[in-house]
Amino acid sequence: MKPHVVVYKKLPEHLVQRLQAEFDLTLFDRITDDNRADFIAALATAHGMIGASLPITNAMLEAAPQLKIVSTISVGVDNFDLDYFRQRGLMLAHTPGVLTEATADTIFALILASARRVVELAEYVKAGRWKGSIGEAQFGVNVHGKTLGLIGMGRIGSAVARRAHHGFGMPILYHNRRPDPEAERELGARYVSKEDLLAQADFVCVMLPLTPQTERMFGAPEFALMKRSAIFINASRGRIVDEAALIAALQDKTIHGAGLDVFEVEPLPLQSPLLKLPNVVALPHIGSATHETRLAMAELAVTNLIAGLRGEPVAHLAV
Ligand code: DGY
Repeated sequence: MKPHVVVYKKLPEHLVQRLQAEFDLTLFDRITDDNRADFIAALATAHGMIGASLPITNAMLEAAPQLKIVSTISVGVDNFDLDYFRQRGLMLAHTPGVLTEATADTIFALILASARRVVELAEYVKAGRWKGSIGEAQFGVNVHGKTLGLIGMGRIGSAVARRAHHGFGMPILYHNRRPDPEAERELGARYVSKEDLLAQADFVCVMLPLTPQTERMFGAPEFALMKRSAIFINASRGRIVDEAALIAALQDKTIHGAGLDVFEVEPLPLQSPLLKLPNVVALPHIGSATHETRLAMAELAVTNLIAGLRGEPVAHLAV
């Protein structure tokens, strides 16, 4: 009998066929309240799971006694309880690397859009309000030559730093668990304390995974340390930030603006004050969302899953 795999996110047809050649599949395009019970029922005989954008609870995993591997189509693994995986000896595969450049592009889009007010002013044109040459009320602030502060210097942080250094002549400050000699040598990046980074950077960019240690690590004290002219960028995970404190800092002009791809609750609730603030650019968690990158992520996740179920080495294991 072939191993059984539960797919909980729509995959391109050629990847479904690749999986079908080796496994019995139960396919879900996405999990909703309507099909959640069927999903849980399918887990009873599952050896593998592949998908994304769904918190996988320990209760779900308990419903899958034969499970060996979960392959997530994401680099982030905050939808899983890693300790549970370790205790049960389950593999958790993820997709680092292939999304680095696309995500760095999104972060740079947020930097440019929030500094130059691209979204707000594009709406101004579309609304027919452009009646003459624009004045100071619509001016933005420079990006080139300004200081970029990166909290976290992993793969995506380095890719953002490369764009900032080579494309925009930006001095780079960073704070990380450990210094990054290559970024210092190649990009002139300077390792500083978190406090110094917050006090000196013109753009403060969160580049961290969500873990119990990073959850809500940005709050009122951090925003108070930032320059009043600073712009806060987050395309990592919303729960790294105390969103109420961010909203207060934006409303009372403790900081100048924010470019956000991620939120405490996603999709962002319609009543969120963030939607009313002109100094906020809000995107619907599009970090890696290009055709090419999402395909590469799905292909890598399928490769990880196949290796895991064949008993071969899995190239990208988070646990
Ligand atoms: C990731 O890969 O973690 C992206 O944020 C998509 O969730």
